[in-house]
Amino acid sequence: TPVDVFDYVVFGATGDLTMRKLLPALFYRFRDGQVPAESRIIGTARSKLSTEEYRGRARDALTSFVRPQDQDGGQIDAFLDLVHYASLNGAEADSTWSNLTDLLDHAPADRIRVYYLATAPNLYGAICENLHNHSLVTDASRVVLEKPIGVDLDTANAINDGVGRFFPENHIFRIDHYLGKETVQALIALRFANPVFERLWSSDAIDYVQITAAETVGVEGRAGYYDTSGALRDMIQNHLLQVLTLVAMEPPGSLDADLLRNEKLKVLHALKPIARENVAQVAVRGQYVRGDVNGQTAPGYLEDLGEGKTSSTETYVALKAEIQNWRWAGVPFYLRSGKRLRDKVSEVVIQFKSAPWSIFPAAPRANRLIIRIQPNEGVMLAVSTKDPAKPDSLTLREADIDISFGKAFATRYPDAYERLLLDAVRGDPVLFIRRDEVEAAWRFVMPVLEAWSADQAPLESYPAGSWGPKAAQDLLAASGHAWHEDQG
Ligand code: BG6
Repeated sequence: TPVDVFDYVVFGATGDLTMRKLLPALFYRFRDGQVPAESRIIGTARSKLSTEEYRGRARDALTSFVRPQDQDGGQIDAFLDLVHYASLNGAEADSTWSNLTDLLDHAPADRIRVYYLATAPNLYGAICENLHNHSLVTDASRVVLEKPIGVDLDTANAINDGVGRFFPENHIFRIDHYLGKETVQALIALRFANPVFERLWSSDAIDYVQITAAETVGVEGRAGYYDTSGALRDMIQNHLLQVLTLVAMEPPGSLDADLLRNEKLKVLHALKPIARENVAQVAVRGQYVRGDVNGQTAPGYLEDLGEGKTSSTETYVALKAEIQNWRWAGVPFYLRSGKRLRDKVSEVVIQFKSAPWSIFPAAPRANRLIIRIQPNEGVMLAVSTKDPAKPDSLTLREADIDISFGKAFATRYPDAYERLLLDAVRGDPVLFIRRDEVEAAWRFVMPVLEAWSADQAPLESYPAGSWGPKAAQDLLAASGHAWHEDQG
């Protein structure tokens, strides 16, 4: 169903995110009939461009980032008619603001407005203040904040305070695009629509959990940002901890945004705090060096940064988290993420406990439930069955109960941003991060950040194209556990 007519104002509209993700996502929803024709998408940035020039850039982006089979020329033209541009110094209180107010002041006062901030996060407060000073914050206005919300707890609080002066919390939509992924939402479906799993979902039956987001790419063109961030801030503090909350939370009373987020928050609060002096025991940081990726030599991180650069920024993190509550006591949650690893895969592995006693010649392997977030989206349950190749004995062999979503539901997988962008128009914050969640997540990772910035733990190296530093294997081996690819 279409949403109500809206004005979507994007700050940072000439940037990579707008071109790669936001415009294509809005285009798909337009093509699917969900964007009313009177709506407007208003790009703003400092560059002095006319609307015609900006539409030209938008067209280039759509032809690059929309699948060729979905590029209907007529539809792209019709979509570009909705696109406007206002050259604006968003963080400055200068006269360029009239370029935006001229466009918005003509719109009915009750029209939905979404202000999407995709600029440097330290500008968010100033932009909101300027929106307020130009009377652009109406009752029907919401603001969307891109990550990263700060680089630590203090800077996150400063950003949230700055935005919170002008927008109430229920009009602030903090994006974590992992929550927009179909398969991350499928986790909620898997757990709470299928009692067959939920009955086993605790330390009674589960030995440990692994959450992986592995990438084969390096830092691409983003070295400037990435080198000030590192994998812990870039992936763990947000995306992986969010997935962890969905795996571990108690069933909420409904899909109401606050009921669900209350349950996620409880998980973040139950994370066992990491003492700074224990960081080296529970966390591994790594940086890739030159290595072999699919038969080709890939440069190391320092080479990617440029000649003569040194850096101790981590491009890989493995972390052992524990959740201190009745359901999860004693069940480690291993999180890891890295650049230039062997394969691109994001997945959750639920490792069940072994059978208490084996009647077979060789003990059965413990069951494993694998939720593939991407690619090859699906759910697999590894079970032991009788090996038909050994007809004369009850020898076991492992096989998968394997649901490939691609095969089961022959449909295009929408990009995560498609749902999230329109949820902000609908005013539904269920898949956005509440302020208290951001804070709890920062609080959990702070001791690790502090220990690493004080060099209190080694920076391991790993060859590009490997699965990360050996220390990450040791982290699990210490408890008799193993990463998925080492499980044979
Ligand atoms: C972003 C990070 O939030 O997520 C990137 O900044 C990372 O470094 C990306 O590559 C991964 O997202 P996805 O959707 O490709 O798993």
